[in-house]
Parts: sequence; structure tokens; C-alpha cells
Amino acid sequence: MKNKTVLVTGGAGYIGSHACVELLQAGYKVVVVDNLSNSKPESLSRVQQITGKTLTFYQADIRDKPALTEIFAKESPSAVIHFAGLKAVGESCAQPFLYYHNNVYGTLVLTEVMNNANVKQLIFSSSATVYGESSSPQYSEDFPLGAINPYGRSKAMIEDILRDLSAADKLNPTEFPWKIALLRYFNPIGAHESGMIGEDPNGIPNNLMPYVAQVAIGKLTQLSVFGDDYPTRDGTGIRDYIHVVDLVKGHIKAIAVLDSDKYATGGCNAYNLGAGRGYSVLEIINAFEKVTGKTINYKISPRRSGDLAECFANPELALKELNWKVEKNLDDMVADTWNWQTKNPQGYV
Ligand code: NAD
Ligand code: UFG
Repeated sequence: MKNKTVLVTGGAGYIGSHACVELLQAGYKVVVVDNLSNSKPESLSRVQQITGKTLTFYQADIRDKPALTEIFAKESPSAVIHFAGLKAVGESCAQPFLYYHNNVYGTLVLTEVMNNANVKQLIFSSSATVYGESSSPQYSEDFPLGAINPYGRSKAMIEDILRDLSAADKLNPTEFPWKIALLRYFNPIGAHESGMIGEDPNGIPNNLMPYVAQVAIGKLTQLSVFGDDYPTRDGTGIRDYIHVVDLVKGHIKAIAVLDSDKYATGGCNAYNLGAGRGYSVLEIINAFEKVTGKTINYKISPRRSGDLAECFANPELALKELNWKVEKNLDDMVADTWNWQTKNPQGYV
């Protein structure tokens, strides 16, 4: 793997920056392509400080085909990890065109450029949000898909496109078949243990963990717990929270597997990246209070529309095929979130 170059789209963002750390530490050369629409270049300076290694950064949009073509020609990556995308569910309902253009069209341009450059190894950031309604709260990869908002549908459409690209290789045999891993993330939280990189949401956070952290530090006054009447153990929603460093380690494992004999003739497979167990909103609040010694001011509010009662991963396939499982626990996730929040109360400013 030494000296192999991995191109990371969206590498300046929350998950991408953590992936860059792991890639550099594993001996890969890293090229980041990010338009900085939801990130700051400071994250990449910090990645280099943490690792003591350098990476190459291009401020470019993945929809800019000439720019992307030039970057591929210059850098000759052997694989791509594709994080670039917009991810706010509410915004996607208000501005669906933006989401389909950025996420779906962006991926079309990226895969066309990859195809032209014969770079056919791709790790894609998918999401548990692609799953449809299910009678079991523990989701396996073969469960029916059925995203319920434009963001989720953009991920599901991209999965379809990538499966089709791979299937076409069977009809037109090629020396360079597509080798694709669709990684379906559950709920990534936490930060690098150094506290130097982490999640830096714009404005008021939509997601639970950054919201709780901002209440704890006094930036926000009160958390709304969206519903306490779900059929769960304490009535609040249950999710499979996964430490971002565990999550990105799954990508490093996936790159190695795509490069192995297992994928010699190509393929496109989905893998859940989750812990396989869920925590409720109240359990997250309690863990935060225990680890930080702070009291979290919260009130019970009505349910948020579109939320499921309970959702957690069946992570067995990732264990079997990628040899990956989570290593960190809830206390680690909370402690690392708090470390990042206290060291960077205003984010990357
Ligand atoms: P993020 O917003 O922090 O990172 C995404 C990065 O992509 C940003 O740096 C942004 O500037 C960049 N970007 C967006 N559109 C671009 C474009 N057209 N060209 C170039 N760069 C572009 O988000 P994140 O939390 O790090 O998420 C990374 C990926 O994982 C996303 O695709 C997201 O949908 C997916 N995902 C995230 C979660 C989560 O809870 N964070 C869960 C499931 C899936
Ligand atoms: N919640 C609150 N109050 C808040 C925010 C969230 O009670 O202020 C609750 C939600 O109702 C839910 C749980 O906390 O029960 C987690 O909510 P998040 O918004 O943190 O996460 P979601 O599971 O709704 O969604 C996240 C990402 C999606 C992604 C999905 C699966 O936002 O983009 O995980 O990966 F698709």
C-alpha cells in the first residue's frame, strides 16, 4: 500500500478529515478535492499537524469535469473515497434540485472522470437512511431500500448508479472492472482523540450529539428531546452511534479488500458500518453528563417528522468481509466530542 495514492473527495469535511489522518498514518499518499462549501481548509492543516505528513489539496468542485480530469491526470490515484456531498435532510426537502445536482450529478461526473482515467476502485459514503420501513429495528444490507427524503434518495440513486456501472462490466468484460464498496453509515459522532479535528456544523446543529455538546458548553440553552412516547425502553429514539475514527478505519479496510483477490473480477457491495447496538436520546444525555460533569438542560418536545423509533446496524457482513468492527464505546465517543468542543468552542475559527 505504500506510495499508493488515494483521492479523497470532501476530505476537508468532518468524516473526510478523519479519513485523511488514518490514510496518511497507514502510509497512503492523499489528494483531497473539496470545494469548501461546508468546511474550512484549517481542518487539513490540522490533519497534517496530527500526522506530521503532508497531503495535496485542490479546492475544486466534483461537478467541474475539466478540473477533475486535470487532477486525475496529474495525481494518478489508484482509488477514490467519495465523501463529497450535501447532507442536511431538512435543506434537501426545501432544495431538492441542489441535492440531486450536487450529490447525484457530482457522482456522475466523478465516475465518468474515473472511468476515463481507468481508476475503478471507489468507496462511497452511503447512509442508513437508504433503508425503507422494516419490521425489525436491526438493519441488514439485504433489507428493502426506501429512502423518505431527497437527501436519502440522492444516496439511494447513487447506489443504483454504482451497482449498474458494476453490472455492466459483466456484459462488457474489461481489464479494469469497477470495484466498489457502498458503506452505509449509521450515526457517526465523536472526534479525533487529539481534539484537533472534529465536527464543525454551520449554525444550529440538526444532529443530536453536536447539539448536546453546544448545550453543555453554553452556546445553546436547551436541548429539545424529540418525543418520549416511542415504543423503546425509555420512550426516546434509539440510534446506532459510531465513533468517527472507527468509521474511517472501515474505509481503510475496504480499500485493502477492493485491492485483494476477493474483488479480482470486480463487484459492488454494500456494507453497514455501525456498532450493532443502539442508545436512546436519554442514554446519550446521561453519558454526556457523566463524562463531562455538566448538566444538560433539556425539555421533551413533539416527535420530529420522519424520525424512526429505533434503528441500528447488523454489522456482521462488514466483520466477515472487511474484517472490521467498532473498537470504541459510548464513553470514548462522548469524551472525544467534549475534548474537541472544549478545545474549539467556535469550531475551526
Ligand atoms: P461534511 O459536510 O463535513 O463533509 C462533506 C465535504 O464535502 C465538505 O467538506 C464539503 O465542502 C464537500 N463538498 C460538498 N459538495 C462538494 C462538491 N460538489 N465538490 C467538492 N466538495 C464538496 O459531511 P460529513 O459528515 O463529513 O459527511 C461526509 C459524507 O458522509 C457525505 O457524503 C454524507 O452524506 C455522508 N454521511 C454522513 C453522515 C453523518 O451523519 N455525518 C451519515 C451518513 C452518511
Ligand atoms: N434528536 C433529538 N433532539 C435533537 C436532535 C436529535 O431528540 O435536537 C433525536 C432524534 O429524534 C433521533 C436521535 O436524536 O432520535 C438522533 O438524531 P440525529 O439527527 O442525530 O440523527 P438521525 O438518526 O436522525 O440521522 C443521522 C443523519 C442522517 C443519516 C442518519 C443515518 O442526520 O443524515 O443519521 O446515518 F442518514
